[in-house]
Amino acid sequence: MLNLHLVQFESSYGVSAQLPPSNMPEIAFAGRSNVGKSSMINKVFNQKSLARVSSKPGKTVTINFFRLGEIRFADLPGYGYAQVAKSEKQRWSELMECYFSSGRNIALIFQLLDMRHAPSEDDQRMIDYLKSSGFCFVLVLTKADKLSKSQQNERLSALKNEIPDGGDITMIPFSAQTGEGVSSVVEMMNKIATENINRS
Ligand code: GTP
Ligand code: MG
Repeated sequence: MLNLHLVQFESSYGVSAQLPPSNMPEIAFAGRSNVGKSSMINKVFNQKSLARVSSKPGKTVTINFFRLGEIRFADLPGYGYAQVAKSEKQRWSELMECYFSSGRNIALIFQLLDMRHAPSEDDQRMIDYLKSSGFCFVLVLTKADKLSKSQQNERLSALKNEIPDGGDITMIPFSAQTGEGVSSVVEMMNKIATENINRS
């Protein structure tokens, strides 16, 4: 079992050339700007400001690594934020490209979507990419606290159609405010940690 409170900030990388090779299994948090990646990390690890959160999109601009035992966690910078210079978008693509396609040991990706809305084109592209590259990922549906239980159920069934093969993908309603979904997420992280210990 992961001892969640022992997590520690490790390092930040803003340029792909700096990314150190991966030497342990990683769990990544991906999704568009402002969807709640950094908030999710703080909630899951039960720490106020492990990851930096902002109401302004584009807060996390570097890949921020956290380490807990033999697992590394990656808070990824968000995509889809329109008010970004072209050079900045270029840097983002290179960084992400390098992160996902340089043979790192990425054990699991939490792909976040705002539960209230249909996935954006960027979200769809990201999901397609994860699928076609064979990554192990689950969809975390954030800001669930903004919906009533019946609205949540409506969105859950809508998403299964909005996303190709959506019915086959694990979806976890999540709220960084109420803690909904935290236990499922922690369970998945523990599973990765256990599998890793058994392998070594
Ligand atoms: P970037 O770093 O820009 O990619 O964004 P991010 O995905 O890390 O989002 P962040 O965690 O910084 O949260 C963005 C905003 O959404 C903040 O104002 C958070 O307080 C809010 N937020 C995040 N998660 C939740 C949630 O579960 N419920 C509610 N109501 N608000 C949330
Ligand atoms: Mg962030």
